[in-house]
Amino acid sequence: MIDIKNVSKWYGSFQVLTDNTTSIKKGEVVVVCGPSGSGKSTLIKTVNALEPFQKGDIVVDGISLTDPKTNLPKLRSRVGMVFQHFELFPHLSVTENLTLAQIKVLGRGKDEAAQRGLKMLDRVGLIKHKDKFPGQLSGGQQQRVAIARALSMDPIVMLFDEPTSALDPEMVGEVLDVMVQLANEGMTMMCVTHEMGFAKKVSHRVIFMDAGKIVEDCSSQEFFGNPDARSPRAKDFLSKILQH
Ligand SMILES: Nc1ncnc2c1ncn2[C@@H]1O[C@H](COP(=O)(O)OP(=O)(O)OP(=O)(O)O)[C@@H](O)[C@H]1O
Ligand SMILES: [Mg+2]
Repeated sequence: MIDIKNVSKWYGSFQVLTDNTTSIKKGEVVVVCGPSGSGKSTLIKTVNALEPFQKGDIVVDGISLTDPKTNLPKLRSRVGMVFQHFELFPHLSVTENLTLAQIKVLGRGKDEAAQRGLKMLDRVGLIKHKDKFPGQLSGGQQQRVAIARALSMDPIVMLFDEPTSALDPEMVGEVLDVMVQLANEGMTMMCVTHEMGFAKKVSHRVIFMDAGKIVEDCSSQEFFGNPDARSPRAKDFLSKILQH
C-alpha cells in the first residue's frame, strides 16, 4: 500500500531524512518511534506529500508521488491524517467539520456527506455531540472527531502523528481505543506514537528512527520480545520510555 524507497530530504544544508526505505502492506499497522527530532513527523508527512523530498520515491496504492502526472490533492484526499493538534475548524459545528472536505474535495452532496460523517461520529462514540462546536468538547473528544473526519473521506490508509501526546492522561485511552478498533478492523495504519502499550497490542511492525534514518524495522514481536537484539540507540530509547 505504501512503498517508501530511498527517501532523502534536506532543509537547506541540513539533512533531515537519510535514505529511508520501508513498505507497508494493506491491513498492516506500523508504529514509528524514536527520539525527538529524529524525523518521524517529516517522514510521515512525506507519505501524503505534505513535505516534498529531494531523493527517492514514495508509491501509495500504486501511485508515485514523484510522477509529475500524479494528482497530489486527489491522492491526499485518500490518505487520512490525524495530527497531535486536532485542527478542527473552531467556528464550525462538529457535523460541519465532518462534512466540509467531503463536500469540497470529494464533491459529495450535503445529505450524503452528513450521513457518512455522522456514521463515523457514531463509530467513535460521539454522536450526541454532533451539534456542538470544537471548543465545547474535551481534547480527547476533539481528537476522536478528527479521526471521524478523516474516516469520513473513506481513506485507503490512515497516518497518525502523535495523536495522543497533547492529551491529558485520562483522555489518552479513549483515543487509543478508537485506534485499536480501527486496527482490528483491518485499516492500514502508520502511527508515530510513543504509546508502547498500543504498539505492543496492535502493531504488526515497529520502525525506530534516529537522526533522520530508519535504524530498526522489524515485527513488533521481535522489537519488544528480543530487546537484546536491538541497536544500542533503540535500547537506550526503550529503557527511557518504558520506565514511565
Ligand atoms: N521547516 C523546517 N525547517 C528546518 N528544519 C526543520 C523543519 N521542520 C523540522 N526540522 C528539523 O528536522 C528534524 C526532524 O524534525 P521532525 O519534526 O520530523 O522530528 P520528530 O522525530 O517528529 O520529532 P518530535 O518527536 O519532537 O515530534 C528536526 O531536527 C527539526 O528541527
Ligand atoms: Mg514529530
